[in-house]
Amino acid sequence: MAKKKTTYVCTECGVTHSAWSGRCFSCGAWDTIQEEVVDVSSSPNLPQGQSVATPLSEVSTESESRILSGMAELDRVLGGGIVKGGVMLIGGSPGIGKSTLLLQICKTIGQGRKILYVSGEESARQIKLRADRLQVISDSLLLLCETNVESILENIRSEKPDVVIIDSIQTMSLTDITSSPGSVTQVRECTSVFTRMAKLADIPLFIVGHVNKDGAIAGPKVIEHIVDCVLYFEGERHSSYRLLRCAKNRYGATDEIGMFEMTDQGLLEVENPSLLLLSGRPTNVSGICVACTIEGSRPVLAEVQGLVSPSTFGNPRRMSTGFDNYRLALLLAVLEKRAGYYFSNLDAYVNVIGGLTLTEPAADLPIALALITGLKDVPVSDGIAAFGEVGLTGEIRSVSNANARIAEAARLGFTKVIIPHHNLQGLASHDDIEVVGVKTIQEAFEAIS
Ligand SMILES: Nc1ncnc2c1ncn2[C@@H]1O[C@H](COP(=O)(O)OP(=O)(O)OP(=O)(O)O)[C@@H](O)[C@H]1O
Ligand SMILES: [Mg+2]
Ligand SMILES: [Zn+2]
Repeated sequence: MAKKKTTYVCTECGVTHSAWSGRCFSCGAWDTIQEEVVDVSSSPNLPQGQSVATPLSEVSTESESRILSGMAELDRVLGGGIVKGGVMLIGGSPGIGKSTLLLQICKTIGQGRKILYVSGEESARQIKLRADRLQVISDSLLLLCETNVESILENIRSEKPDVVIIDSIQTMSLTDITSSPGSVTQVRECTSVFTRMAKLADIPLFIVGHVNKDGAIAGPKVIEHIVDCVLYFEGERHSSYRLLRCAKNRYGATDEIGMFEMTDQGLLEVENPSLLLLSGRPTNVSGICVACTIEGSRPVLAEVQGLVSPSTFGNPRRMSTGFDNYRLALLLAVLEKRAGYYFSNLDAYVNVIGGLTLTEPAADLPIALALITGLKDVPVSDGIAAFGEVGLTGEIRSVSNANARIAEAARLGFTKVIIPHHNLQGLASHDDIEVVGVKTIQEAFEAIS
């Protein structure tokens, strides 16, 4: 007889609670706990494979050969292409372009390979219309509009595709599990079943996962630990630019980003992100500075803005977008204590343009310069870029990849770059740009004005 048990699961992080509560104790999210009835007596009918222990030296790695998706931006984020038997999760908010990206790569990977595109959200007609718009013409692309996992596995067994795409995991369900599609149990179990299938058949599997803020359906976070790669597709609502960010990768580095532009012909790769991030930049105004950062393996120039204004309350506000709030508070304290720039009665805001998040210490100096020039109302010449870490005594510390950062600034027509003094040692010669090494924040400010 079926034995049922009621559990309370957080749709954000997947942690099980013994009782319902308004807030998840584990991840702190509000209103994300859902009641789920799970059948504890039966286990779903899963594909079985014999497991035999193998000496490490005899394990074949031939299948590590990668399939190129035809989109260099995606391949780089994946660590050099699609790995056979790899399970890749593409997460993102509704309408951001997840289905578009996956349908578009079918154009290239479909050459000589059979692809099974399973959609639980759209009709075959809708997908065909999108494929026509994206000019994806492929006889080897099979569409399956189905949400039942057993039936999908049956199709995979009979069709033997070379690549499988599941769009989206929140619509899929296993018959043996009583909870509704999109619940934590269903999403987790379906992912495990598909993952096992991909490993046994040694085919790459793409899974689409919706990021939904209201907590009614389980988010991609609850399956991050099962899959091999986790990519998040991000972008602002009013901008056509999209960032593909890697959150986990068992086959490569996780700090790579890919940039795309959404057009009516689909996603276009942005090969020159610096140019894009700097376009439309105001010239000769105070409170901005161009930061030379490294994103993954590439140098990227990004505009940072600082705004300082009188605080109306006793407790001044410190807010940042694209930069750590604690790091901002720390920088302000250093500027005040070590360099004599007073912010204590002032609200300070920092913004990184283009949806980028600057996590490396090299962003300290440009952010400090944006704040100081904002405070002093000194216009910054648009030919200046900067990078460097700010230490607690106000000293500018050296950072890695100085040559690549300077070369990128020179390539984009900058005339002067402010760098840590220590980085001058062993620097390649840069004839086309003036390089100024600075030891303190004051020196950096003098170099700008
Ligand atoms: N005709 C069009 N011209 C230009 N852009 C379009 C057109 N049709 C759709 N788009 C863009 O594609 C986006 C939807 O892409 P897509 O359906 O791939 O997103 P998704 O992430 O799969 O969304 P969902 O959550 O609905 O599955 C739209 O938000 C829009 O920006
Ligand atoms: Mg979609
Ligand atoms: Zn939680």
